[in-house]
Amino acid sequence: MALIEIEHLSHAYPMGEGGQHVALEDVSLAIEAGEFVAVLGSNGSGKSTLAKHLDALLLPTNGTCRIDGMDTKNADQVWRIRQKVGMVFQNPDNQLIAAVVEDDVAFGPENLGVKPCEIRQRVDEALAAVGMTKFRTFAPHLLSGGQKQRIAIAGALAMQTECLVFDEATAMLDPEGRAEILSIVKKLHDEQHITIVYITHFMEEAAAADRVIVLDHGRLAMDGTPREVFARADELQELGLDVPLSVELGAKLRNDGLAIPQEIVTEDDLVQALASLVPSHQRNAANDERRAGVQRSMNEKSDAKGGVPVAD
Ligand SMILES: Nc1ncnc2c1ncn2[C@@H]1O[C@H](COP(=O)(O)OP(=O)(O)OP(=O)(O)O)[C@@H](O)[C@H]1O
Ligand SMILES: [Mg+2]
Repeated sequence: MALIEIEHLSHAYPMGEGGQHVALEDVSLAIEAGEFVAVLGSNGSGKSTLAKHLDALLLPTNGTCRIDGMDTKNADQVWRIRQKVGMVFQNPDNQLIAAVVEDDVAFGPENLGVKPCEIRQRVDEALAAVGMTKFRTFAPHLLSGGQKQRIAIAGALAMQTECLVFDEATAMLDPEGRAEILSIVKKLHDEQHITIVYITHFMEEAAAADRVIVLDHGRLAMDGTPREVFARADELQELGLDVPLSVELGAKLRNDGLAIPQEIVTEDDLVQALASLVPSHQRNAANDERRAGVQRSMNEKSDAKGGVPVAD
């Protein structure tokens, strides 16, 4: 049984005068525990509507959404579902409620009636996991956007959540804040095996996932590995989406006649592909030159320190 099982899910928002707006239409999808799934789609394609179904904030108008076997329509299980699935939203200023960081992280488990000594331990672990231990007594309004999002993640971790859903959680952050959040997400996935559903408009972020899902007008348009999905650049463009810069650059270089493989997705892939084009004797010469440079600089430092060898 997959952790998230969505079968023929449709969602229609009621509109005035008995009308409705169909935001999701016949979506079927299974996400296994431990997967890292990025969700892409142009504005209004239904990403947030899908995310809210995972936490039972919205219920299907047709079809089903089950979390670890629990139907989100079953009102008795809503709290268990929300314990399993934590959400991190876009605006860092709307998610923290307490006046002190550690109280904010403790808020969820306190409401669950967890014993105080266990709460303390959960808060310690959650703050450590997001690298925010030293800010535990800070007031949230003194933190940067990225730090606030890290506290929001810690709040979910303190609930011992098994799945984290990020709805454009990096959209309001600067590049540094975005990189911080993405690296924490990767760490939680790799080390704690937390299932990640990561909605984003940044293609470079989606390239870090194991699987990419693309929504278009409320329907599932693509579902595959980042390599498979980003290889369909023309179709993505028709859906109003880009490909990561490394994919675009790789394609341009390929068109210019360089032997760059099709399956370039990340910056690392591109760097490796380019490095492999440099003949090995030239690479060795470059490495020898670099080593000689390091040795020269160590010798200079050693001379300056009276002959004691020093390393950087
Ligand atoms: N409460 C609502 N009532 C009526 N229509 C809504 C409501 N919320 C969203 N919609 C509509 O449903 C569709 C899907 O919205 P949703 O917010 O899920 O898209 P999205 O992919 O998250 O978009 P964005 O990239 O802008 O965040 C849009 O056409 C939107 O206007
Ligand atoms: Mg949205």
